[in-house]
Amino acid sequence: MKSYKLYIDGEWVNSSSGKSFDTENPYTGEVWAKISRGNAEDVNRAVKAASSAFQGDWGQTKPTERGKLLNRLAEVIEKNAEILGEIEVRDNGKLIAEMGGQTKYLAEWYRYYGGLADKVEGSVIPSDKPGIFNFTRYEALGVIGMITPWNSPLLLLAWKLAPALAAGNTAVIKPSEFTSASTLEFMNLIEEVGFPKGVVNTVTGFGLEVGAPLVDHPNVDKIAFTGSDVSGQKIYEAAAKKIMPVTLELGGKSPNIVFEDADFEAAVMGAISGIFAATGQTCIAGSRLLVQKSIHDKFVERLINVAKEAKIGDPMSTETHVGPVTTQPQYQKIIDYIEIAKKENAKCVLGGRPYTGPGARGRQFIEPTIFTGVTNEMRIAQEEVFGPVLSVIPFDTEEDAVRIGNDIDFGLAAGVWTNDIGRALRMSEKLRAGTIWVNTYRAVSFTSPFGGYKRSGEGRESGKDAIKEFLQVKSVWIAQQTSTENPFIMR
Ligand code: NAI
Ligand code: MG
Repeated sequence: MKSYKLYIDGEWVNSSSGKSFDTENPYTGEVWAKISRGNAEDVNRAVKAASSAFQGDWGQTKPTERGKLLNRLAEVIEKNAEILGEIEVRDNGKLIAEMGGQTKYLAEWYRYYGGLADKVEGSVIPSDKPGIFNFTRYEALGVIGMITPWNSPLLLLAWKLAPALAAGNTAVIKPSEFTSASTLEFMNLIEEVGFPKGVVNTVTGFGLEVGAPLVDHPNVDKIAFTGSDVSGQKIYEAAAKKIMPVTLELGGKSPNIVFEDADFEAAVMGAISGIFAATGQTCIAGSRLLVQKSIHDKFVERLINVAKEAKIGDPMSTETHVGPVTTQPQYQKIIDYIEIAKKENAKCVLGGRPYTGPGARGRQFIEPTIFTGVTNEMRIAQEEVFGPVLSVIPFDTEEDAVRIGNDIDFGLAAGVWTNDIGRALRMSEKLRAGTIWVNTYRAVSFTSPFGGYKRSGEGRESGKDAIKEFLQVKSVWIAQQTSTENPFIMR
């Protein structure tokens, strides 16, 4: 059986407790690797290494050099994309059909921010103070703690690590206890590329044993986190005690809104992609499907017929559409929400049970599930399920769609299906979410800012401004000649 150590200061080391924990393949239910169980002492070691690297050579590395390293990393990622993809499938149950492309695509984040590394420019400010020259410079923050969830470990790491390194920071990474292996394999690539010791470190373990001490550590300068809103809030509170900046990406309950004038078949596919892709385990899931009343019944009928055909089973098969749920607790949570929906008198028109048909192994399969007759006040409409469970909510007018769409604590994304350009523009303006998709769904790129309104988070990832999330600006004033003006008044 494979056994992974911690990666600290350029070395593979045992956890100070000597303990480890199992990681499972969610498809087979088998334990396939042992992961080191880190603790606060390991966090200390990693932060010390990252601080020394930041204060030492890495802090002095030319931006162009950092860019070259990131570009080299992009190449190495492409070369190893297949292996990384297979590990995501084995440890997480992600589809090989999706991972084949996604692990290769990761390289683009490193390339994009590698290119940006030497284009971070301060400015000369036309000062109103005679005789004083004023300019700004952008400086790295220092040590960034990166805490990632189980649903897309390497992708969500790239969104943090690429801009943070481009900006000149160092990193201590804490992947999810359910899916640590791909991040650890990724450390081999970091090593191969030749990043100096201590620039990138990974400490595996549990949220309270590794994540919390990382957040609390006095020498950690920022936390970049993706995960549940509950953990996100705890991290925000802990960060407040240190007055430490954070970026938080906390999931959602996104409305996917279908108008009667939409391209019917494209909208059906968009609704399917919004909720059943990745077994519904995505923060951007279009889990509230708002359908205009005039087409509601016809739309639901077609949706059921398409969803029924989804092939459930082995994530390593390129034919599979819906794989296993990644973790046992997540499986239970989905089952519980299906019960909640039934008790709320939502009508289950598809699925609603564990899947035990052909292709199912282990215990973690759930049938693609659709509830109709959902009202927006129900828990099944308001709370993130993070599984293949869709709530269909009918609406009358455009105003209703906006009101229902926004009547939620979250604000990560929204989909709009219409052929009316005016309506598309009005909806894009009125929906309160960080990403709006019109006549498409799940489009995400390194070029475009991503993040949440409201309870979906704080800060943005991806796009050129995201590098600023890992920098702080300094204003420098230089007098052109010394003066002996009244020292008791402001200059
Ligand atoms: P989580 O928020 O509990 O864990 C995410 C990461 O934070 C993990 O690495 C975990 O070890 C760490 N963590 C947990 N508590 C912490 C603390 N107090 N301080 C520092 N680090 C801490 O999410 P989990 O358990 O992986 O999934 C639970 C739910 O979160 C899911 O059911 C889903 O609803 C949601 N979720 C949302 C994601 C998103 O992309 N927005 C991704 C994964 C989960
Ligand atoms: Mg696993």
